[in-house]
Amino acid sequence: MAPMYTEKVLEHFRNPRNMGEIEDPDGVGDVGNPVCGDLMRITIKVDDDTETITDIKFKTFGCGAAIASSSVVTELVKGKTLLEALEVSNKTVIEELGGLPPVKVHCSVLAEQGIAAAIKDYYGRRPDKQIPPQVEEKLRKLQDIDPHEIAPA
Ligand code: FES
Repeated sequence: MAPMYTEKVLEHFRNPRNMGEIEDPDGVGDVGNPVCGDLMRITIKVDDDTETITDIKFKTFGCGAAIASSSVVTELVKGKTLLEALEVSNKTVIEELGGLPPVKVHCSVLAEQGIAAAIKDYYGRRPDKQIPPQVEEKLRKLQDIDPHEIAPA
């Protein structure tokens, strides 16, 4: 039988990057999949002038694929601007992991949702800044995903 997970997934699961929680975050994204019950918290530090993510950590109560997806997504968005980070999709996460089994695709969606939620929270804490339309657009798109469609089989 072919192995279920790529070596990269297993490596991130065993040695997750940026795990934990930033003490004084500029944005927090709390997301969960109501079907499998897995939860993810993303905390970010943002440079207000450049709107760049200077630090990011994750805490995931979930399966190995969710932990590997969280780990990879933190590496992908660290150093990016908020709008660049918003463009990182679950497909990018899956590509970076070298693939995920179809029943585990929803775990990567959780990572995409976590980043978007943290970015929205950042703007919510900065009344002096206007929330870019791309943020609302992305959240709407992610909200439209039926959790049952991305639920584990
Ligand atoms: Fe639900 Fe992986 S996040 S099983």
